Amino acid sequence: MNISKICVLGAGLMGNGITQVCAQAGYQVAMRDIEQRFVDSGMNAIRKNLANNVKKGKKTQEEMDAVLSRIKPTLDLKEAAADADVVVEVVIEIMDVKKQVFKELDAIVPDHCLYFSNTSGLSLTEMAAATKRPDKFIGTHFFNPVPVMKLLEIIKGYETSDETLQIALDWGKKIGKECIVVNEAPAFVVNRVLCTMLNEAFFALGEGLASAEDIDKGMVLGCNHPIGPLALADLVGLETLLHVIEGLHKELGDKYRPAPMLVQLVRAGRYGRKTGKGVFDYTAK
Ligand code: 3HC
Repeated sequence: MNISKICVLGAGLMGNGITQVCAQAGYQVAMRDIEQRFVDSGMNAIRKNLANNVKKGKKTQEEMDAVLSRIKPTLDLKEAAADADVVVEVVIEIMDVKKQVFKELDAIVPDHCLYFSNTSGLSLTEMAAATKRPDKFIGTHFFNPVPVMKLLEIIKGYETSDETLQIALDWGKKIGKECIVVNEAPAFVVNRVLCTMLNEAFFALGEGLASAEDIDKGMVLGCNHPIGPLALADLVGLETLLHVIEGLHKELGDKYRPAPMLVQLVRAGRYGRKTGKGVFDYTAK
């Protein structure tokens, strides 16, 4: 199958990054969100990233303009998906919301269209079962910041066909990512390992083992991580991290209990960089 038109559902942190890498690879991309301010902020993030590339000499102004010309920001689901070869779903991590979106899509997209879901840990099999095309459904899990992180984790649901897997692998390569293939399990591979570690950092913080700065310093200087776990949680988004941990807890038991400090920060609305405050305060920077 030849992919030329992609519809990305969601213009947030991950959605705009996925839109950017697809447009950079030459695809026509419709980026759809439910409110104009989300679409505008997604487009601003893409423009800012591309302008940085131009400033650093990694792209020419003409290349930047060509990438932008391939992106169509929209609020209209029908307009975005009616002729899509692939829909990349990047909507909120709530199973019922995702299922509802796929139900609407089933009535819009052409027969050959594939569904790629960027869920951080929800069951692809369950989502796929709610659609008319479970064999054409696969998980494509990106990492933040999408334009920078090399990995694409590809997750097979129970009914995913070999053909769909091969198309997703070819697409991943074309957009410049290295792929790993994972059989479905809660939070897959990377988030199962990573989010468990991040959760542990919140236990350490809540139990007063050390300051937030020293927990991060310990992991950066002691383990050669590029960024400390608490700063990384702020980058990922604390509410997203909590969704992943709650999923692991529900499916795999008490070992994955969310740290109370993480729960409390989410309740306080401190979601991390995107809201200006998480573990750390970014408002003054
Ligand atoms: N968007 C686009 N590009 C960005 C960016 C962003 N938000 N943040 C940084 N960059 C680019 C910079 O422009 C720079 O590009 P250049 O090499 O062309 O100059 C490059 O990344 C390095 O950036 P900086 O020099 O400013 O800063 P650092 O060296 O500190 O790198 C980082 C920043 C790449 C974010 C680094 O800290 C890092 O690798 N952190 C770990 C990220 C990580 O683990 N991500 C996975 C999160 S888990 C996830 O996403 C899954 C989800 O389901 C939970």
